[in-house]
Amino acid sequence: MEIDTLYRQELLEHYRNPQNFGKLKKATYCAYRVNPLCGDEMDLEVLLDRNGKIEDIAFSGQGCAISIASASHFTEYLRGKSLARVKRVDREIPLRLLGASVGAPRRKCALLVYDALQDLVKLHDKKTGTGKNRRNPRS
Ligand code: FES
Repeated sequence: MEIDTLYRQELLEHYRNPQNFGKLKKATYCAYRVNPLCGDEMDLEVLLDRNGKIEDIAFSGQGCAISIASASHFTEYLRGKSLARVKRVDREIPLRLLGASVGAPRRKCALLVYDALQDLVKLHDKKTGTGKNRRNPRS
C-alpha cells in the first residue's frame, strides 16, 4: 500500500472517529472560529490544571474531513502541554500532524483549530496579564 494512501486512510479515520470531539463539562477557556471561505465552524475548549497545563481539551462544530481530522490530531498533541508552551507551537505543526499534503486552498481548513487555539491563548493572556509586557523581538 502506498504511503499517501495510508495517510489518507488515517485522515479519514480521524474524520469518522475524531478524538476529543464534543463539549467539556467544565472549561477554563473557550474559543469559536469560522472558516470564512466556507462558513464551517469550530469551538475549542480547554480545561487547565492548577499548573496551567491542558488537563482536558475538546472541539466541536462542523467542517470538512481535513478540518475535523486536523482538530483530532492537534488536540491530542496539545493535551498535557502548558499554555505557555502551546503559545510557541509552530503554525506548521497541525499540517505536519495530518501527514497528508494539503494544498493551499485547504490550509485554512487544517489550521482552523490552530487559529482557535491562538484565540484561547489571547484570552488567557488577557485574563492573566501575561503577554502584555512581552518584548517585540524586532525592536
Ligand atoms: Fe470548510 Fe474545510 S471546507 S473547513
